[in-house]
Amino acid sequence: MTQPTEPTESEISFRTRKWVRPEDLNANGTLFGGSLLKWIDEEATIYTIFQLGNGRVVTKFISEINFVSSARQGDLVEMGLRATEFGRTSMTMRAQVRNMITHASILTIERIVFVSLDEYGRPLPHGFTDVTLGRDRIHPDLLH
Ligand SMILES: CC(C)(COP(=O)(O)OP(=O)(O)OC[C@H]1O[C@@H](n2cnc3c(N)ncnc32)[C@H](O)[C@@H]1OP(=O)(O)O)[C@@H](O)C(=O)NCCC(=O)NCCS
Repeated sequence: MTQPTEPTESEISFRTRKWVRPEDLNANGTLFGGSLLKWIDEEATIYTIFQLGNGRVVTKFISEINFVSSARQGDLVEMGLRATEFGRTSMTMRAQVRNMITHASILTIERIVFVSLDEYGRPLPHGFTDVTLGRDRIHPDLLH
């Protein structure tokens, strides 16, 4: 039997799964886009914190979003992110969301840009150029 393996740094990792609840629905009875975007932004925040080792990161830019299919109450959706570019103070990601029940793609976002900030809210150079698959970049300040 083949064991599941950790994705390599060039692959999207689908780490988060969401169950579509009644409060996540729009007037059409399908998944509300705002709920989905909130989930993606949260997921991207956590991913960026791990990659850049800084808890103070903000969303700077999100490219075109084309909702190609949807989900219904009770469906399960999964979200994946991959870092595509490390800038001086920024990191760019690609996002994919798919419906685990229908196997259909719900959306793809080519570019989500986050910026690392210092304590004054100014862009802070992060010094990283590649993806970490571990937790080695967690800054001591984030630990309790
Ligand atoms: C994030 C913020 C401090 C950046 O300020 P800024 O004056 O644009 O800073 P810079 O020009 O130095 O750019 C910082 C980085 O963002 C990138 N950037 C700036 N504008 C961008 C855009 N429109 N698209 C993609 N990247 C952009 C720059 O290329 C730079 O990346 P690099 O250092 O890796 O090269 C400022 O725009 C801000 O506070 N925005 C609000 C963020 C926020 O609150 N988001 C939550 C949602 S409201």
